[in-house]
Amino acid sequence: MRFTRTFLAAFSLTCNWVHLANAAASSDSPRDADRGQSSYVGGDHNIDPETVSQFKHLWNASFNPGEKHWARPLVHTLPSTGRQIVFTASTENRVRTFDAATGELIAERQISPPWPLNTTNCTELGETMGIMGTPVIYTDYEDGIAFFYVKSYIEDYRTPGGAAPALNGVYYLYGVYLTTLQDLYKFPLFIDDVPHDNDPRKVFIGGLVLQRPSLLLLGDMLYAGFGGICDAYNFTGSVVAVNLGSRNIYRWATQAGPDSGHTDDWTLRNGGGAGGIWQAGAGLASDGKDVFFTVDKGGDLVGAGVFNSPVSGKTHLDMLSGSVTRISLNEENGLGVQLVDWFKPADYQANYSHDIGSSGFAVLDEGFKTAEGKKIGVASGKKSKLYIHDLDNLGGYRQGLNSSDGVLQTIHLDGQVFGGIGSYPLEGGYIYAYPENAPLSAYAFTSSANTSQLFTLVGRSSSRSSGAGTPTVTSNQGKSGTGIVWVTDVTRGLVAYKAVPVNGTLVEIPLPKVNGAIKYGRPVFGDGRVYVIDGSGKLVALGAK
Ligand SMILES: *[C@@H]1O[C@H](CO)[C@@H](O)[C@H](O)[C@H]1NC(C)=O
Ligand SMILES: *[C@@H]1O[C@H](CO)[C@@H](O)[C@H](O)[C@H]1NC(C)=O
Ligand SMILES: *[C@@H]1O[C@H](CO)[C@@H](O)[C@H](O)[C@H]1NC(C)=O
Ligand SMILES: *[C@@H]1O[C@H](CO)[C@@H](O)[C@H](O)[C@H]1NC(C)=O
Ligand SMILES: *[C@@H]1O[C@H](CO)[C@@H](O)[C@H](O)[C@H]1NC(C)=O
Ligand SMILES: *[C@@H]1O[C@H](CO)[C@@H](O)[C@H](O)[C@H]1NC(C)=O
Ligand SMILES: *[C@@H]1O[C@H](CO)[C@@H](O)[C@H](O)[C@H]1NC(C)=O
Ligand SMILES: *[C@@H]1O[C@H](CO)[C@@H](O)[C@H](O)[C@H]1NC(C)=O
Repeated sequence: MRFTRTFLAAFSLTCNWVHLANAAASSDSPRDADRGQSSYVGGDHNIDPETVSQFKHLWNASFNPGEKHWARPLVHTLPSTGRQIVFTASTENRVRTFDAATGELIAERQISPPWPLNTTNCTELGETMGIMGTPVIYTDYEDGIAFFYVKSYIEDYRTPGGAAPALNGVYYLYGVYLTTLQDLYKFPLFIDDVPHDNDPRKVFIGGLVLQRPSLLLLGDMLYAGFGGICDAYNFTGSVVAVNLGSRNIYRWATQAGPDSGHTDDWTLRNGGGAGGIWQAGAGLASDGKDVFFTVDKGGDLVGAGVFNSPVSGKTHLDMLSGSVTRISLNEENGLGVQLVDWFKPADYQANYSHDIGSSGFAVLDEGFKTAEGKKIGVASGKKSKLYIHDLDNLGGYRQGLNSSDGVLQTIHLDGQVFGGIGSYPLEGGYIYAYPENAPLSAYAFTSSANTSQLFTLVGRSSSRSSGAGTPTVTSNQGKSGTGIVWVTDVTRGLVAYKAVPVNGTLVEIPLPKVNGAIKYGRPVFGDGRVYVIDGSGKLVALGAK
C-alpha cells in the first residue's frame, strides 16, 4: 500500500498522470517497437555492425513445457537502482522479470489461471490461453508499471461446464509494479459484460475473443485490439480503450449497427459479424493522437452492394472489412471512439481470405514526406502488396484513377506479409518487407512529385523467409552506416542485415546461431543487447558484454 498513497496523491493533485522527463533509460524497450509501428526503434541501443560482430550468447531462460511467449519481452531500467530488467508475459498468465545483463530471475508471479484452449481448434496457440498481446510499460511513475490483458475464466459463470466453455472466459486489464509484480491500486479492471458503445446488442465477452495485437499507450489512454480465437464463436472485432487514471472504459466494435451480424447464440461462427483485429500480433499504431490498425474480414459490404462504386474514406461505415482503419477518441467531446478514415483495396473479394488483416499499419517517421508535404503510412497483408498511403487520406474504396486504389503508390511483393514492415529514416530513408517464402526486400525513398515513384526496390537478401517476423531497425546514436535490420525466421532464427543495401544486395551480418524463432516474432533491444524468443520457446540474450 506504500505506493498506493503516493500514486493516488500524484493522481488527485494533477487530475492526470504525471509525466516526468527521462524516466525511461534511452536503451529501454517499454513497448513493442515504436509508437507508430514504423519499426525503427531509434538510435539508443549502442548496437552497430561492429559490436554485432562480437556478439555471443550471453544467457538464456527456459519456461514450462507448453508455456508460450507470443507477447514480446520488454526491457526497462528501474530508476531507483539503475538495474535494467527484461519483463516477460506468457500464455500461462505468468509474468517474470530477469536481470537484463545476467539473466538472473528476479521475480515471478502467476496472475490467474489461464483458459484451457483444448475445446477450440486453436491449440497451435498453446495448451492454454493467458496473456498474448505484448504489454506496455508506463515508465513515468516510480519504478514503472506494466499493463497487459489477462485471459482467464470464472467456472460456471455464464454456462455450466466449469472452465472449458469459451462463454465462461473473461478478460482483465492488469497493472503490476515492475519491482514486485504486485497489483497496482484499483487494478485489475474487469472489462466483460458491458455492451459496445456503438452497438448495445453486442456485449463484450472476453471468452469469445483474443487480445493479440501489442498494446498502445498514448498519454494515459491505453488501447487494445481484439479479434477471434481462430475465428470461432459469434465474436466481433473491437478496440477497448481505458483511461488509466480515471479508469473510464470505451468499447468500440468494428461491426456495429442494425445491418451488422449479431446473434445471442455464442457458438455460431461469425455470428457476431467477425472483423477481428489480429495483425499477426503487430501493435496498434499512432501518429500521437489517433489510432491506426487493420480489420480482418467482416460484414460483406461488397457482396451486399453497398460498395459497387467508389466511396470516400471519410464516409461513415458501420461495418469495416479487410480495411485499414483510423479512429479517434477525444474524451472531452463525449463522443467516444469515432471512425475517422479507412481504406479497402479495390480488389477486395468477400469470398476470398487474402485480406490485409494479417499485417498492422505503419505510421512512418516524419522524415518520410511527399514533395507536397504529405505524411506517409504503409499497409501490407495477404494481398502481396505494399500500400503507400497519404496518412491523412487513407484512400477509401476505389478512389484512384478508373476506380483503382486511392493510394500514393502500390508495390507488388512476392508473398504475403504477416506482422508488418520495417523502416529506417536515416541515409535517405528505406522501408523493408519480409514476405512469406521470399527474400527480405529494401525500398529506397525519394520525395518524388510523382508519388508512384516514392519507393524503389534497391536490395534483396539472398535467402528466403519461413514464418517471417516483422523487420525491426536499430542504429547507433543515428550515425550513418550503423543501421541494422533484424528479422526473426522460424527456421533461421535471428538474422541481421546492414540497413543500406550494397549493389542490390542486403548484406548479412553474422550472428551467433539462435535455434529458430517463435512465429511472427520480433527481437527486443536493451543496452547493447538483443533478446528473442527462440523456436523452442526459450528467451535468448545476445550481446558483446
Ligand atoms: C543456454 O544456457 C545454458 C546454460 O547457461 C547453456 O549450456 C546453453 O548452451 C545455452 N543455450 C543456448 C542456445 O545458448
Ligand atoms: C482440457 O484441459 C482441461 C485442463 O487441462 C482438462 O481438465 C479437460 O479434461 C480437457 N478437455 C478436453 C476435451 O480435452
Ligand atoms: C472445430 O472444428 C470442427 C470440425 O471442423 C467443427 O465442427 C467445430 O465446430 C470447431 N469448433 C469450434 C469451437 O470452432
Ligand atoms: C454473442 O453471444 C453472446 C451470448 O449470447 C451475446 O451476449 C453477445 O452479444 C454476442 N456477441 C455478438 C458480437 O454478437
Ligand atoms: C469470388 O467472387 C467473385 C465475384 O463475385 C468471383 O469472380 C470469384 O471467382 C470468387 N472467388 C472464389 C475464390 O470463389
Ligand atoms: C481508364 O479506363 C478507360 C476505359 O476503359 C481507358 O480508356 C483509360 O485508358 C483508363 N485510364 C487509365 C489511366 O488507366
Ligand atoms: C510516374 O511514375 C511511373 C512509374 O515510374 C511512370 O510509369 C509514370 O509515367 C510517371 N508519371 C508521370 C506523370 O510522370
Ligand atoms: C558495386 O558495383 C560497382 C559497379 O559494378 C563496383 O565498382 C563496386 O565495387 C561494387 N561495390 C561493392 C561494395 O561491391
